[in-house]
Amino acid sequence: MRIYLDHNATTPVDPLVLDAMTHALAEDFGNPSSVHHFGQRAKARLDEARGAVASLIGAEPSEIVFTSGGTEADNFAIRGAAEALEPTGRRHLITSGIEHEAVINTFKALARRGWSTTLLPMDATGIVAPDALRDALTDNTALVSLMHANNEIGTVQPVASLAAIAHERGAVFHTDAVQSAGKIPVDVRALGVDLLSISAHKFYGPKGIGALWIRRGTRLLPLLTGGRHERSRRAGTENMPGILGMGVAAELARKKLVDEGIRLAVLRDRLEQQILTTVGRTVVNGAPEQRVPNTTNISFDRVEAESLLIALDLDGVAVSTGSACSSGTLEPSHVLRAMGLPVHRTQNSIRFSLGAANTEEQIDRVAGLLPRVVEKLRSLAGASVRTS
Ligand SMILES: Cc1ncc(COP(=O)(O)O)c(C=O)c1O
Repeated sequence: MRIYLDHNATTPVDPLVLDAMTHALAEDFGNPSSVHHFGQRAKARLDEARGAVASLIGAEPSEIVFTSGGTEADNFAIRGAAEALEPTGRRHLITSGIEHEAVINTFKALARRGWSTTLLPMDATGIVAPDALRDALTDNTALVSLMHANNEIGTVQPVASLAAIAHERGAVFHTDAVQSAGKIPVDVRALGVDLLSISAHKFYGPKGIGALWIRRGTRLLPLLTGGRHERSRRAGTENMPGILGMGVAAELARKKLVDEGIRLAVLRDRLEQQILTTVGRTVVNGAPEQRVPNTTNISFDRVEAESLLIALDLDGVAVSTGSACSSGTLEPSHVLRAMGLPVHRTQNSIRFSLGAANTEEQIDRVAGLLPRVVEKLRSLAGASVRTS
């Protein structure tokens, strides 16, 4: 029995999503821009999917722009808003050090082109302090981009307060909700943001499809120019299998959001408690209360995270050392580093992210394995490993 505890990296496609995608490829193959019957049938399906995605985040369908995933949605939000605001002279951008690479590297690219950027300081809670944002804002700040839920530690930022603070100074507010949409309620109006990114493969939809929600009236330059798709905001014939799959995934996620969140929180807490009590020198990273229900990130003192990941994989358990992009390298987690954790803790932390197929039996099996696996790694490493 293999146990998958890496749902923040990606989720398996729900069978109903697969049906919708197969149908899109085999039956409703028309181009939604075509005037004839085939085109109009596809257009009707596209509208349905847009409506379902909008419902998941409390938005109007016309405010949804489909993208090739979370990365493109983040790029579109940040580059699009920055460039639209360039003529106003606002050339300052704010984010945090715990963002996904899709945000951090976009900021770096804009910094190379002359934008000034600020990374907000962070403490070990992994939560942005509203005062830190207040201090960093200037009258030249064009955009603030702060994520809703963090992919590595699961912490949820006080986005509504942060967005209100940014708006007081006239800055546009973007949030990357890739790790919160489908896991906790996300309501664009309650959050009070201007731009919000989501990605289907984090909630049992396909990879390579996502969306940017754009509050009506927010000025954004498109990344892709061409035809008038997506109201001229994102050119290119629509990825219909992806979009229709995302629509079904969004509807399923919305329906089971509350119950599944409660179920996963119980399982996650059970795993966490068992690890903390049966494996010595373990500690949970990030504020435990303000987290998405499926995620825990735990430091195992005197254990290389990669060795633990591989040992668990050999025992049939899939976990992660952090974001999928940086796993497979010995790079310490940039998120834990930004939180100011000591170097050894940035290199001995494992992320467990739970999802639909996980059961109590699986959780107990993983928790049962860990004391032996960790003990073995600690004794093999002996005196050569980093210690606190
Ligand atoms: C917080 C966050 N933002 C953005 C992305 C990128 O999304 P995608 O894989 O759809 O490009 C991810 C994916 O891991 C993520 O976790």
